[in-house]
Amino acid sequence: MTGLRDDFLWGASTSPHQVEGNNLNADWWALENAPGSPLPDRSGDAVDSYHRYPEDMRLLADAGLNAYRFGFEWARIEPTDGEFSRAERDHYRRMVDTAHELGLAPVVTLQHFTLPRWFAESGGWRRPDAADRFARYIEFVSPALRDVDWVCTINEPNMLAVFANLQETVLSAMGGQDADAPEAGQAATELATALAHVRPDQALGDTLAQVHRRAVEVVRATTNAKAGWTVAQQSFTPTPGNEEVFERVHRVWEGFYLDVARDDDFLGVQAYTSQPVDANGPVPHPDHPDNSLTGWAFRPDALGISLRRAWDEAGGIPLLVTENGLATDDDTRRIAYTDEALGHLEAAVADGVDVRGYLHWSALDNYEWGRYAPTFGLISVDRETFVRTPRPSLAWLGARARRDGLR
Ligand code: BGC
Repeated sequence: MTGLRDDFLWGASTSPHQVEGNNLNADWWALENAPGSPLPDRSGDAVDSYHRYPEDMRLLADAGLNAYRFGFEWARIEPTDGEFSRAERDHYRRMVDTAHELGLAPVVTLQHFTLPRWFAESGGWRRPDAADRFARYIEFVSPALRDVDWVCTINEPNMLAVFANLQETVLSAMGGQDADAPEAGQAATELATALAHVRPDQALGDTLAQVHRRAVEVVRATTNAKAGWTVAQQSFTPTPGNEEVFERVHRVWEGFYLDVARDDDFLGVQAYTSQPVDANGPVPHPDHPDNSLTGWAFRPDALGISLRRAWDEAGGIPLLVTENGLATDDDTRRIAYTDEALGHLEAAVADGVDVRGYLHWSALDNYEWGRYAPTFGLISVDRETFVRTPRPSLAWLGARARRDGLR
């Protein structure tokens, strides 16, 4: 008896830029391909999921999962200001159809870190008409969402607010690193350290909240889906005597965004690790052999902390775990991490937290924003041949889903 709902979603997640390949009109593509770009890897063909999504979805369904979170790519759908592609909308509609045919509930993200280049280069979210432009894009894609039950507007607005103040630090932390070289681990640690010292841009957070409110209205008016956004939670905990700093850090990094979700239909919870907060703010993860390939502490309990906090602070709206996973080259660690994380999820449910599903990050190894080295996939991909090889963790998650209740 796990107490999970009969319609609990068991699945995995991806995002367009990280798996599709050749996302030519996106701001990230421009950044990766700029002369002297400090990003060690370019996304290039990624893992060609743009063409191979039927195979990817079939692997998830065959393993016994019943949900897949993927994104619509704004930069493909509106590659030029005001020029909307019906062919690209049809492409994403085919993805929705394929998911349904395979018995996978589609969970669709409308914006996952990347922006159309024209939009980014003219001010991005800081454009005065940002909410209108995003709303116009959603209105255009809404026919493709007609039988989708779950729509995420913006992925991790709080990380967008972090990145806004971080770009230079991150780029120099990652700069000049060959992702396959031994120093790649060092780059991950430096990146994690840089992230610990940055302060999210609250003005951008306020803007994103307005953009999101408008987007939720449009999704509700034009589809039957539940609308929400996804928030990255670092599961901060105070060190003794630093409760006030913790409160401030938590508020600006994530509390604000959990609060905004109160008026939504659900909240996407994304948790990977937990970080203490001392007098100076978030403490960088100390070096440890168990740290993941992104330099994060191995903390499966983060999921329980994040779910409980989200439940308290977003006013008791339904929660969907839209990301949780581990970057590792040892699949037994991925299984151990996920097993423990699910134990924390089930304990939260037993305590009354309304959790509607668990979507593992990630279905496939993918482009981890500048590098291919951190492998998060339940399925590994040979990037020369694009051959997919499910890892044991995929079958394990399917079996766990059957054990713990699958409709
Ligand atoms: C993002 C993903 C990313 C993952 C692991 C989340 O912040 O939504 O795009 O790959 O974490 O870093």
